[in-house]
Amino acid sequence: MVDGKKHDVLHDVNAFLPQNSISVILGKSGCGKTTFLRILANLEQYDQGEVSINNDEKIGFVFQEPRLMPWLSVSKNITFGLEKQMINLNKLEELMNLIGLKKFEKAYPHQLSGGMQQRVALARALAYDPSIILMDEPFAALDYFTRETMQKELIRIYQLKKKSIIFVTHSIEEAIAIGQNILVFNEGKVHAQFNLEQYEYPRDVLSPSLIEIKKEILKKLA
Ligand SMILES: Nc1ncnc2c1ncn2[C@@H]1O[C@H](COP(=O)(O)OP(=O)(O)OP(=O)(O)O)[C@@H](O)[C@H]1O
Ligand SMILES: [Mg+2]
Repeated sequence: MVDGKKHDVLHDVNAFLPQNSISVILGKSGCGKTTFLRILANLEQYDQGEVSINNDEKIGFVFQEPRLMPWLSVSKNITFGLEKQMINLNKLEELMNLIGLKKFEKAYPHQLSGGMQQRVALARALAYDPSIILMDEPFAALDYFTRETMQKELIRIYQLKKKSIIFVTHSIEEAIAIGQNILVFNEGKVHAQFNLEQYEYPRDVLSPSLIEIKKEILKKLA
């Protein structure tokens, strides 16, 4: 609602997001990507249609900014809000190793770089042991090289944990580097869908076939 008026953000969104794969929602600013993720997470109401997610699926959310508690250490940030029985020290240690921050478990957020903070945010989502992880432009604020490293880390974690990841981005290159399935949103609709399952990781986004896909996506976004 804006000024009491209903604002139609998404319509005709018909999408199937396969389990245990990385699906990317790609689109320009304002096309409804965050709204779509919030609907999946049951944080946003919708007035038409249907979202079908198995009842036993647990959903984790990683936001664009790390949203860490500044007064809590890295390990406390990761376990914050979890029931005691949900995480034990072994699991915490495994997570710290997974995100490569074992030496920083006692550090505070202000002592970490942006990329490290985003790793902690990812670990916090993983600690809850979700089967689906929704990620809303989690690497958008990072420089090119850190972003590339984080994409590789995400793929490594995905290969180890085989979660269903739904990743929002406005970067075509990022979508091509990580997505097994890319949904191009334009004006509140799914404008096109690309299946990249046959491209193994790590991908060379400058290879001729992926550059062709990039051109196709650009046409759909324009
Ligand atoms: N709570 C809200 N009330 C009213 N309008 C909203 C609300 N949230 C989003 N919108 C509108 O919905 C549209 C889509 O917003 P959304 O945040 O989903 O876009 P986005 O694709 O995530 O954009 P960005 O890439 O900039 O994050 C925008 O026009 C925005 O103004
Ligand atoms: Mg958004």
